[in-house]
Amino acid sequence: MDNILEVKDIGKTFQVRSLLGRVKGGVSAVDRVSFSLGAQGTLGIVGESGCGKSTLARLLMRLIEPDAGEVNYRGRNVLDLSGASLKEVRRQLQMVFQNPYSSIDPKMSVLNNVAFSLWANGVSRQQARKTAYEYLDAVGLSRTHADRMPGSLSGGQRQRVAIARALVLKPEIVIADEAVSALDKSVQAQVLNLFQDLKKEFALSLIFISHDLHVVEYMSDEVMVMYLGRVVEKGPTERIFNHPAHPYTRALLASAPSLEVDRAAGSGAPALSGDLPSPLNPPSGCRFRTRCPMATERCAMETPELTAVGPGHQAACLLLKESLTA
Ligand SMILES: Nc1ncnc2c1ncn2[C@@H]1O[C@H](COP(=O)(O)OP(=O)(O)O)[C@@H](O)[C@H]1O
Ligand SMILES: [Mg+2]
Repeated sequence: MDNILEVKDIGKTFQVRSLLGRVKGGVSAVDRVSFSLGAQGTLGIVGESGCGKSTLARLLMRLIEPDAGEVNYRGRNVLDLSGASLKEVRRQLQMVFQNPYSSIDPKMSVLNNVAFSLWANGVSRQQARKTAYEYLDAVGLSRTHADRMPGSLSGGQRQRVAIARALVLKPEIVIADEAVSALDKSVQAQVLNLFQDLKKEFALSLIFISHDLHVVEYMSDEVMVMYLGRVVEKGPTERIFNHPAHPYTRALLASAPSLEVDRAAGSGAPALSGDLPSPLNPPSGCRFRTRCPMATERCAMETPELTAVGPGHQAACLLLKESLTA
């Protein structure tokens, strides 16, 4: 599988100021994150709220400027682009958010919401409307929905409009950031299935971000686990869920027990306890060490790097390295 996106060592630190405007320090929201996305593959990104998932998504789109790193889309570094070439890349990468109103306008009809970006790109009114109907059909909305205002739709239907809006410009990559998190479980399942169908129909590559492990497991070929801005583990979905290597991944799995009773993953590992430390002042060495049941003194002193633990599978844990090299 060819890679469509290759991200290298991307990072972002936000300066945080006090009410009086003094710089209090930096929040290292994303720290040296690297990954690749295969053409027509799905990468799941998981981690607790505050781990840097949304910041990472925004960095890829250059909605936020990274401090460092590369975002190579089809061999070109997006960070070097400007003007028309940046606009073209942004068209190829579309986002779907948790709150559909992040991308749809409550004052425009459903049809116009989908047709709008086509008009804005110079497509005739008539053609734009025709295409918009086709995309509404593709996401399971009928002509009767087309003339309604978004406010009169259900949450699931509104999210379908946001998806149609993202797809109408024919992107190659869709980044879904907690796209089903606000929906009821049964509606969630329908929208996840819709994503699966659309992925095939439009040959999309997906980045599927969620704090919900089950959602990520269902959707992804590859999974990347983040903790306080860093990637702690990544690999094929089956490996991450059946042979998790990092104590954080194990704790996450133990906190969200699988419906499959005999899965090895959660066995033995204690569930996640305590709160995420302040990102303004993250723990030295391994950022997970303050919540890790296995942490030793060394974990406070050395920063673990990602190390191979299986085929295509890497984890960043000093103790793991010890047991592998012992
Ligand atoms: N614009 C910003 N200014 C300052 N801090 C920010 C900003 N955006 C995000 N952060 C901080 O960066 C960290 C990561 O946030 P975010 O990417 O939203 O995490 P997630 O999507 O995983 O919940 C959090 O500590 C958050 O408070
Ligand atoms: Mg988020």
